[in-house]
Amino acid sequence: MSELVLYRKYRPREFDEVVGQDHVVDSLQNAFRTNRVAHAYLFSGPRGVGKTTVARLIAKALNCANLSKISGGNFVDKLSISPKPHGGEGGLPMPCNACDSCRDFNEGRALDVIEIDAASSRGIDDIRELREGVRFVPTRSKFKTYIIDETHMLTKEAFNALLKTLEEPPGHAVFVLATTELDKVPATIVSRTQHYDFRRPSVAQIAERLAGIAKKEGVALDQDAARLIALAAEGSMRDGESILGQIMAAEDKKITRVEVERILGLPKREAAKRMFELIAEKDASSALSLIQELHDAGHDLQYFSKLLLQYFRNALYLKTDPELLRFVENELLPDEIEAIKVHLTSYAVADLARGADVIFSNLQSFKKSPIPQLPLELTVLELMGGRGEKIESVTLYQTKPK
Ligand SMILES: Nc1ncnc2c1ncn2[C@@H]1O[C@H](COP(=O)(O)OP(=O)(O)O)[C@@H](O)[C@H]1O
Ligand SMILES: [Mg+2]
Ligand SMILES: [Zn+2]
Repeated sequence: MSELVLYRKYRPREFDEVVGQDHVVDSLQNAFRTNRVAHAYLFSGPRGVGKTTVARLIAKALNCANLSKISGGNFVDKLSISPKPHGGEGGLPMPCNACDSCRDFNEGRALDVIEIDAASSRGIDDIRELREGVRFVPTRSKFKTYIIDETHMLTKEAFNALLKTLEEPPGHAVFVLATTELDKVPATIVSRTQHYDFRRPSVAQIAERLAGIAKKEGVALDQDAARLIALAAEGSMRDGESILGQIMAAEDKKITRVEVERILGLPKREAAKRMFELIAEKDASSALSLIQELHDAGHDLQYFSKLLLQYFRNALYLKTDPELLRFVENELLPDEIEAIKVHLTSYAVADLARGADVIFSNLQSFKKSPIPQLPLELTVLELMGGRGEKIESVTLYQTKPK
């Protein structure tokens, strides 16, 4: 099982399989139903969130025999949906995945989907070639779909040529432009398209999809392991699937959190939780010991400080308003959130803000410190000092009162 296979194998084949982009999918399905499919779409958003996937679904749906049928007239009129389109829940239009066109498509044999990577074909000649081709009617289907990836990479001249095509597109052509850098796409192009901004799916959404894929692959992926992979994916569904594939290649049928941490070489999240607890309990002795242990085990203490910063920042969220939990869940695992909740009463909002600030400011000093442990040690002691107090007020070691 190679990692490549996984995200190709599980590319959504239906609109309702696309996760976290309901605002796009609903509106597109509505367009299919009401006969208002546009000539040109612009999909912007981070990588690995479904832009190409949805572009291909549009192409497939346009030519699905059981979704739409052609009547005469101009483009908008041409796309007339049959009275009982094949549909998902609520009768929303979906490609049937059974007709000749859908099958060609699913097997990568569709001729009337033209994908252009503007990162490599960015010049005027490439767009001229496209303009030539656009004029010809589709080979086997009703519509030709042009998908231009990384659109922002086109040269100025290429954009101008593309603009002309978008201004007077033939009825049989639909364009889907995708970009990760919307602000580099000229306003003239944007205004010629229907623009959708794709969002990062949440950790919970990624984890759920990974769990589903693992199940289909016959692998037992436990919940925390799925969440940990989802955290590492940083909002990219594709990265999540790649990481899962990578771990599946190394582990066979059972994947737990510990294995994910080991294979990805993640720093001990457990230790960051422990440190947060020790700081709340003002146990300086154990905290310093923990730093020493981490150092001895070869951990990157700057990275560890960033994990600790996450704790204070997310504690700040929860202290400010428990409703903000939905954001916190995107950064921490359930047991980590529990640990924060237990200690939330020990802090005022201002303490947590100051805590985050102290960690943040000290992050810069790791590079110049002659002793690798020192910046973290000072950070931790300062955090225990409380507001305005001096470090001396912390019990650095237990002495018997005389
Ligand atoms: N929103 C999503 N829902 C389900 N799977 C997704 C989603 N986004 C990405 N994927 C997975 O990641 C792969 C690559 O996604 P892709 O659409 O090419 O991303 P983009 O074009 O935004 O970079 C897909 O084949 C699919 O497996
Ligand atoms: Mg893409
Ligand atoms: Zn079909």
